[in-house]
Amino acid sequence: MCGIVGYVGKENALTKIINGLEALEYRGYDSAGIAYLWNGKVEIIKKEGRIETLKKEIDFSLSPTISIGHTRWATHGKPIERNAHPHHCGKFTIVHNGIIENYLELKKELTGKGYQMISDTDTEVACALLDAIYQEEKDVLKTIQRASEKLKGSYALGIICEDTPDTLYATRKSSPLIVATVEDDKFIASDVPAILQYTNQYYLLDDEDIAVLKEDSLTFYQAGEQISKERLVFEGNLESAQKEGYPHFMLKEIYEQPNVIEKTIQFYFDGTKESLFQRLPDLSKYETIHIVACGSAYHTGLVAKTWIEEIAEIPVLCEIASEYRYQKVFYTPTTLVIVISQSGETADTLACLRKANQEGMDTLAIVNVVGSSIAREAKEVLYIKAGYEIAVATTKAYSAQIAVLSLLTLKLALIHNKISEKSFERFKRQLSSLPDAMRTVLKNPKYKEIAEKIYEREDIFYLGRKMDYAIGMEGALKLKEISYINCVAYAAGELKHGTISLVTEKTPVIGVITDPFIKEKTISNLKETAARGAYVIVVSNEKIEEAEECIEIPNFHPLLQPLLTILPLQLLAYEIAKKRGCDIDKPRNLAKSVTVE
Ligand code: AGP
Repeated sequence: MCGIVGYVGKENALTKIINGLEALEYRGYDSAGIAYLWNGKVEIIKKEGRIETLKKEIDFSLSPTISIGHTRWATHGKPIERNAHPHHCGKFTIVHNGIIENYLELKKELTGKGYQMISDTDTEVACALLDAIYQEEKDVLKTIQRASEKLKGSYALGIICEDTPDTLYATRKSSPLIVATVEDDKFIASDVPAILQYTNQYYLLDDEDIAVLKEDSLTFYQAGEQISKERLVFEGNLESAQKEGYPHFMLKEIYEQPNVIEKTIQFYFDGTKESLFQRLPDLSKYETIHIVACGSAYHTGLVAKTWIEEIAEIPVLCEIASEYRYQKVFYTPTTLVIVISQSGETADTLACLRKANQEGMDTLAIVNVVGSSIAREAKEVLYIKAGYEIAVATTKAYSAQIAVLSLLTLKLALIHNKISEKSFERFKRQLSSLPDAMRTVLKNPKYKEIAEKIYEREDIFYLGRKMDYAIGMEGALKLKEISYINCVAYAAGELKHGTISLVTEKTPVIGVITDPFIKEKTISNLKETAARGAYVIVVSNEKIEEAEECIEIPNFHPLLQPLLTILPLQLLAYEIAKKRGCDIDKPRNLAKSVTVE
């Protein structure tokens, strides 16, 4: 997501915009820009990187009274200066949050009319469309109305037209946009934090509303008719606004997962096999796959290893990047190296990507941050659609990586005829009910109840086999990262070879059991811990009577099951850390992206 701020009024627009953008920086900050009208001309300053970098380029001694600004989370085109917003074309300058789905079709049409785009963005196309229509209409309001009929997808737009230098326009479809007025000051913004320093009252634009803001007036239109809108009041402070009312970014991001998964999967898979072959790389020649990553990203690789080997029957080496980069690695011409990284900047993972590239291997990156180093240096990149992830402990990016790996496995299985039509149909059918199933799992009150019982423990074990072991590793990492409890995930069958000596009275042992073929084995291992006093908790897609606490989740296709299994482990970690009063979004000693070895 991106951050938009606009201002028209009596005061210095530059300061108002920058203050607003800084309050929206949580929405993304890979580049930022500002445009303002000065002496009848539009001045635009935009820079790669954070708002701090942009500020250095601005002459705040100027005092324009109208301006728009933008902080970017790149979706189309690398986060470089020419792709930063605002974008300008002809008479118009705009900032945009959202995705124009038909921008390529519009770009072709506009190029045919003589418009030359200088960026890779969908936003510049929208700007050219406004100008092209305006050349006919010569009326900004009508122009915006006609443009909104042609634009498909989502947009929140802040618009300035040189022919109306005292007026700021705003419109939206599916992307949030608010309007606020404080005496002669008028604001537009993507979100409440940008205006909270001036007022907690605002108007929320509905889809295809158009707001016309002047120093001395504020007017709303819908379908060409002037309308009135209810003024809303935000109850809360700046920080709570950025979290949209959640107490922590981590909890907000945990609850974003159903939407993130839906968006990520839909981007690559429309339910047809053809979409997998059109939207995912050609995987037909690969006989061996290496998956390399760190931390949670590595844990997604372990899940994928189980899937690809068991379902697509292709051997997979899944290794921690900091090991892989120094190991003797055996490559063949049909090896595909997949690197996974939310930030796309993790030093060890980047080093492994470079190692594979130097060996002439095909490399595929699964990344969240558009235009990041790993995204740029891999031969192919698949972006997850998790949006900007703020909490250091990853949740929605982890799940979105799992979703993309699920689709890659599905494609490999189809290529090698290793999946039945029945299984493919079950996958497709359950995909549509997955987001709601995730929302149901998230609502379970048991996580708080269990956290109450175990938050003071200093050792907690996670047990599982195969994919459940991999998911248990992620659950253990989540908990240790934010609660500072010593958590260890163990292969269920391995615990008795030494580590079970650590199990004492009431030691919490969390079993992950979703694979029916090895369920009994893991239950036996859990009983071995219970016999030594352990407090056994199980996360399973069936009722496990032997557990003191059983958190039941729906039974889904193996390629979807982890997206449900991980949720209780995320929320258990969250609730326990909260009980312990830890700094959940910024845990001690950690960083969101480990760009050092
Ligand atoms: C996960 O919660 C941690 N923040 C950490 O393990 C993280 O997954 C790891 O540092 C890899 O980061 P990346 O995905 O940005 O490469």
